[in-house]
Amino acid sequence: MEVSPEAAMVNHGFFPKDPWKDAWQFILPTLASKLLGRKTPWDQVDEVRTLLELYLKTVDTPEQYRLDEAGIEKTWPRMREMLRHNRGMTKLMLDHGHQSRIVYPYILQGAQAISLEVFFGRAFDLTGEFVAFPINEMAAYYAVWEPIGVFIRERVAYAQFLLSRPHLKVLTCGAGFCPEYRLNGFPARALQHNVIAVEEDERVFDHLNLVYGCDPKELGITYLLSRVENVYCNPLYHNKFDVVMAQGLLSYYRDIGSNRRTVELLAGLKQLLKPGGRLVCDLQAMEPTLIRCAECMGWQSKLLPDWTAKSAIRRMKKACQKAGLVLTDIKVDSRNRTPCGVMFTLQRPEKA
Ligand SMILES: C[S@@+](CC[C@H](N)C(=O)[O-])C[C@H]1O[C@@H](n2cnc3c(N)ncnc32)[C@H](O)[C@@H]1O
Repeated sequence: MEVSPEAAMVNHGFFPKDPWKDAWQFILPTLASKLLGRKTPWDQVDEVRTLLELYLKTVDTPEQYRLDEAGIEKTWPRMREMLRHNRGMTKLMLDHGHQSRIVYPYILQGAQAISLEVFFGRAFDLTGEFVAFPINEMAAYYAVWEPIGVFIRERVAYAQFLLSRPHLKVLTCGAGFCPEYRLNGFPARALQHNVIAVEEDERVFDHLNLVYGCDPKELGITYLLSRVENVYCNPLYHNKFDVVMAQGLLSYYRDIGSNRRTVELLAGLKQLLKPGGRLVCDLQAMEPTLIRCAECMGWQSKLLPDWTAKSAIRRMKKACQKAGLVLTDIKVDSRNRTPCGVMFTLQRPEKA
């Protein structure tokens, strides 16, 4: 999909705003619901459906917009409850979310690896089909401007730089759909890497061929349904990999006030690397649109971002020291006004 920021702005009348102002107008009403129990009035809840149907009637055929039992009618009772208990979510749907075939099912689906595909132009639509959405779809706005999406694309490019040598043996942890091997015209076939992709979420396995457009094995990628811990505790995998990737993973391993789980994970991943091998990873930072996604768009997960990019770097430096890894590169998300995260390259010393 080709989505230029300019086209998204023209089509949807959106202009980049101050992310704090943009996000808090939704976060605050959500907090009012969650902390103070302020429910959305029913008339506002039902207006969401009215506006959505009006929008769909202008852009789709009845087969496409599916107001029947197989479509919105089936999911509406659940959505109605969610909107009732989340004023920020209702505001988002009333303000602009109703002008979309993607935002509604996206909210219902919640956080899962496949949801990240929205930043690469694909998502489930109202009929339950996974589609490449066109530029005149509201989700294109999110795909282009959403700071987290911008960061995710940057971290893909960051990893691809390191992966550009041929014949690497690679382990990717919390692999999701390995965007590094699919985007930016990455020459996955030509490089002939041997990749093991470790993922604990079974749902990812249901969509592999759909997302890759082929069997990932054709690109040298073998999926393993497992937790990362099981892999690094298995001596069969020790000292085997040129590159280990943990993109979007480390922020699941943060405890407030302690670096213990992060150090444990890094020390475990280090064992998988050959001496001199590299680990590519990132830490996410607290950022208003991330809070908006979590609180107003149903992205509940165990991810715990660092407070700021600076504190993420400080924490990573300490964790590397403890885990016996050398921090060879740090790149702060440079495209967003408030950085969404920091990318790191760590190296296992040649001599342990
Ligand atoms: C934020 S997504 C990132 C996916 C992919 N690496 C990317 O950059 O698009 C994190 C993924 O890690 C997976 N995950 C989280 N903890 C895991 C663990 N301990 N072992 C294996 N997978 C894990 C989740 O299921 C999810 O698919």
